Amino acid sequence: MKKLFALLLVLAMVLTAAACGSAPAAEPTTPAAPAEPAAPAAPAAPAAVKVGVSMPTQSLQRWNQDGANMKQQLEAAGYEVDLQFGGDNDIPTQVAQIENMITGGCKVLVIAAIDGSSLTEVLKTAKEQSIPVIAYDRLIMNSDAVSYYATFDNYKVGTFQGGFIRDTLDLDNAAGPFNIELFTGSSDDNNVNFFFGGAMSILQPYIDSGKLVVKSGQVTLAQCATPNWSTEESQKRMENLISAQGYGPDGTKLDAVLSSNDSVANGITNALVAAGYTKDNFPLLTGQDCDKPAVKNMIAGIQSMSVFKDTRTLAGQVVKMVDSILKGSDVEVNDTTTYDNGTGFIPSFLCDPVFATVDNYKELLIDSGYYAEGDLA
Ligand code: BGC
Repeated sequence: MKKLFALLLVLAMVLTAAACGSAPAAEPTTPAAPAEPAAPAAPAAPAAVKVGVSMPTQSLQRWNQDGANMKQQLEAAGYEVDLQFGGDNDIPTQVAQIENMITGGCKVLVIAAIDGSSLTEVLKTAKEQSIPVIAYDRLIMNSDAVSYYATFDNYKVGTFQGGFIRDTLDLDNAAGPFNIELFTGSSDDNNVNFFFGGAMSILQPYIDSGKLVVKSGQVTLAQCATPNWSTEESQKRMENLISAQGYGPDGTKLDAVLSSNDSVANGITNALVAAGYTKDNFPLLTGQDCDKPAVKNMIAGIQSMSVFKDTRTLAGQVVKMVDSILKGSDVEVNDTTTYDNGTGFIPSFLCDPVFATVDNYKELLIDSGYYAEGDLA
C-alpha cells in the first residue's frame, strides 16, 4: 500500500515537472485571478492493523495479567487491540466475542480457549476469511484454523510437581507408605493432560509399588478433575475426602496433595485449614502460577511450591508471532511434535516454566518486577 502510494506520488511529481517544463511560460494577456494552489490532501494515516485477543475469564489473576500484557505489548508494536474476556468462563460469550472480532476486521486472533473443543464452528469463519489464529496457553482442539500455539512447557510443569513430592518425601529411600490425594484442573482444558500426565509419570510407579497410597482410590484424570479450575469445587472435594477418609492432624495422616495449579490449591488449603491443619503439620501441597494468594500461603508455610510462568514472557513471544505473521516473515517455533489438536501437530513455541518455593520467590517475583513487595504482604 505504502509502495503504491509512493509510486503514485513520484508519478504525479514527474508529470507535474514535465507539464511545467513543456509549457512555455507565456505571459497571460488577461491575467486570471491567481487560483489558490489546491493544498495536496494529506494522506490519511494508515489505520492500525487490529488484533483480537480473547481471554477465558477475569476471575483468575493470571488471565487479567495475560490480557493486560498482550494489549500493552501489541499496542507498543503499533497494533490496535480488541481485548475481550469470556465473562466468567462462559463459552457462548467467548464464541460471540470471537465472531465480533472477525466481523470487526481483526487480522489475527489470539485465543486462550475456555473449552478447547468448543471453537470449531466459529473458527471455520476465521479460516474462510484467511485470518490466522494463535492458540494462547491452551491448545484449541479439532480445528484446522489454528496456525500456531504458544504456551509453557506444560508437561514440565507436571514433572516439577510430581518431582517435588517424590524428592521431599524421599520416596526412593524412606520406608513409607505415604498417603496422597490427587487434584488436577478442568478436563475441557487440554493442558491438564500434560500437567496431570507429567506429574503422574513420576508418581504412578510409587502408587503401583504401594509406597504412595491414594486412600480414596481416585486416580484417573476424570476422578481428579476440577471443573473450571474452581477454588470452590476443589474445596468441596477436599472436604469430602477429609470426611470420607478421616484425614486430619489427629486423624488419618495425609502426607501430600498433588494440585495442578494455585486456584485448585487454594480450595484444598481452605479445606485443610478448616480441618485444623497448620504450618506445623500441613501436607505437602503443589501449585502453579504463583498467584498472589498462593505465594502468601507459601510464605505462611502452608502451600509448599508453585510454578512461575512469567506471563510477560508468553505475551512477548505471542506478539513476536503476530508481528511475523503480519509481516510475512518466518514465525519462530521450537516444537512441532508435541501438540496435536486432532487435525495434526500445531507448530508451537514452549516457554520455560520455573520451579518456585519460599526460598526463591523474592528473586523470581519481586526482583523481576512481577510483583511489588506490598502485593504479597
Ligand atoms: C493454565 C494455568 C491456569 C489454569 C487455570 C491453564 O490452562 O495453563 O496456568 O492455572 O489454566 O486458569
